[in-house]
Amino acid sequence: MIKFENVTKIYPGMSSPAVDNLSFTVPTGEICTIVGPSGCGKTTAMKLVNRLIDATDGAIHVLDERDEMSNVLEMDPIQLRRSIGYIIQQIGLFPHRTILENIGTVPQLLDWDEARIRHRAEELVTMMNMPVDFLERYPHELSGGQRQRIGVARGMATDPPVMLMDEPFGAIDPINRNILQNEFLRLQQEIKKTILFVTHDIDEAIKMGDKICILNVGGLLEQYDSPANILAYPANEFVEDFVGADRALKRLNLVRVEEVMNSRPPLLQATQDVKQAVGFMTEKKIRFAYVVDAAQTLKGYVRVKDLKGKTGWVEEYLEPAATSIQLTTNLKDALSEMLVVDYANVCVVDGQNRVRGLIDTKMIHESVIESNAVAEGEEV
Ligand SMILES: Nc1ncnc2c1ncn2[C@@H]1O[C@H](COP(=O)(O)OP(=O)(O)OP(=O)(O)O)[C@@H](O)[C@H]1O
Ligand SMILES: [Mg+2]
Repeated sequence: MIKFENVTKIYPGMSSPAVDNLSFTVPTGEICTIVGPSGCGKTTAMKLVNRLIDATDGAIHVLDERDEMSNVLEMDPIQLRRSIGYIIQQIGLFPHRTILENIGTVPQLLDWDEARIRHRAEELVTMMNMPVDFLERYPHELSGGQRQRIGVARGMATDPPVMLMDEPFGAIDPINRNILQNEFLRLQQEIKKTILFVTHDIDEAIKMGDKICILNVGGLLEQYDSPANILAYPANEFVEDFVGADRALKRLNLVRVEEVMNSRPPLLQATQDVKQAVGFMTEKKIRFAYVVDAAQTLKGYVRVKDLKGKTGWVEEYLEPAATSIQLTTNLKDALSEMLVVDYANVCVVDGQNRVRGLIDTKMIHESVIESNAVAEGEEV
């Protein structure tokens, strides 16, 4: 847990605060994203936690190694910094040390032996989708995005329970950023770190955060809440502007296909008799149906007009399905995919391509109407 209590930071010689009377709590095992315009105090707030700078007023408490809440001001700053993973905004790799030595910085301070450091470093670069022979290179031999991923690996080296991540994916292209975000979220399910994650990108804040802390210039807290609540009930005009006019669409990011799909869709078996299939589709009033094999694997689809008056087996009339959607895909990506292929409904499959449901645009629309109603406080 990380707890800010009325924390203010005024830099020496400055008349106005960089962080102003900030209070919020990050529960253990959650990611809290801090987002706001440039200069609003995000990096400052983060550095107050591991005491790279000290607060002018107020207190910050973190869980210490004995699982007790301690005021960081009463902890030894060196000890504190070694126990908290820190990924800095400018990456900050040591230029004259190899990637292995960079990742091994804190482990070495903690007297890990060489083999253990190498093993952990290999594990981390692999996790970050990079080859292990990068460990022998120097930072200038890597691209900016690769260096940034090494920065993330270094912050995670000793597996600290609390991590501070300052724009960790800021220098990475959108495709790789998306991959890393997803990979990191998947990893977080297992490692359940308590994380303060700074970003200036509201979409990243929504995607990565269990909670979002929205700061305004002068280090003022405008809203602290879950992404869903921030999108549904922005506290004021600043938040409303900051989250954007498309906040209804953004809420689609927060809902997964499996939450709204029809999980008992009408399906045909590949080995089914055609006449029987036509009867089934007529009864269900559907013009086309997806076809699966005995293991529920998606084989394609058939149209009733292609089957009428025919004999034989369904598999003889199969058309390949242009797309399918994974259970965990969010509604925004699903909708986008459906608009591209222009299908009335799309199969939802699991990792083994087994059909688990169907989704159509109406289900997505209904989920938006429902969450609007919830936001307005109506009965659904
Ligand atoms: N060492 C310092 N001395 C004086 N003022 C500082 C110092 N560091 C930062 N500031 C000021 O404090 C304010 C907050 O800076 P901070 O780096 O925390 O912003 P930020 O939200 O991280 O911005 P960015 O999105 O650009 O990284 C800014 O106005 C900045 O100029
Ligand atoms: Mg910053």
